Amino acid sequence: MDAFECLATKLDIRDFSQIEVPGDIKLKVLEAARLTGTGLNTQHWRFILVENKENLKRLANDSTSGNWVANCNFAIIILTNPKYHFHLIDAGRVIQSMQLAAWNYAVGSGIFTGIKEDKFRKDFGIPPEMNISAVIGLGYPLKKLFGKRKDRIPLSVLVHNEKYDASNKS
Ligand SMILES: Cc1cc2nc3c(=O)[nH]c(=O)nc-3n(C[C@H](O)[C@H](O)[C@H](O)COP(=O)(O)O)c2cc1C
Repeated sequence: MDAFECLATKLDIRDFSQIEVPGDIKLKVLEAARLTGTGLNTQHWRFILVENKENLKRLANDSTSGNWVANCNFAIIILTNPKYHFHLIDAGRVIQSMQLAAWNYAVGSGIFTGIKEDKFRKDFGIPPEMNISAVIGLGYPLKKLFGKRKDRIPLSVLVHNEKYDASNKS
């Protein structure tokens, strides 16, 4: 699949099959993270790979908006360093890189950001200087996704020509 098709067909999913994702695909996803650029090439991010079923359940319990992560095949916690003011831009870029790399191998993924911070930090040993930016859960989709269209605002609303146009509303 080419890069455009990959991003055009990728959906965030929350229902995963129990088929194991091979280790070499997991490595590709992590390598996609490593290869993504950061502001000033600081590479301040760190990733926690979670594969153990008990730890996936723990992740779900430590979440306020990602219960579904208990049923994924593996998850990646994205940590960034908030001393860099652009750290959340870096987080967004690396998350998209990993999700697209996964989808290129037919592995679906979802993301969550709602966490019970104190419990999460304790359970996964996260130091105070690192920000828990998001968690992605990955695995083969339970259902075929073909035909499901994205619910998106049209370009005519999103894109303004040359200057911001306040009358250009949805
Ligand atoms: C910054 C960000 C935070 C998100 N947080 C959550 C979340 O906490 N829980 C969740 O289930 N989905 C979360 N999502 C997934 C969005 O709901 C999803 O990307 C959006 O509905 C579009 O989905 P689609 O690409 O499948 O159409 C988040 C997405 C982004 C980009």
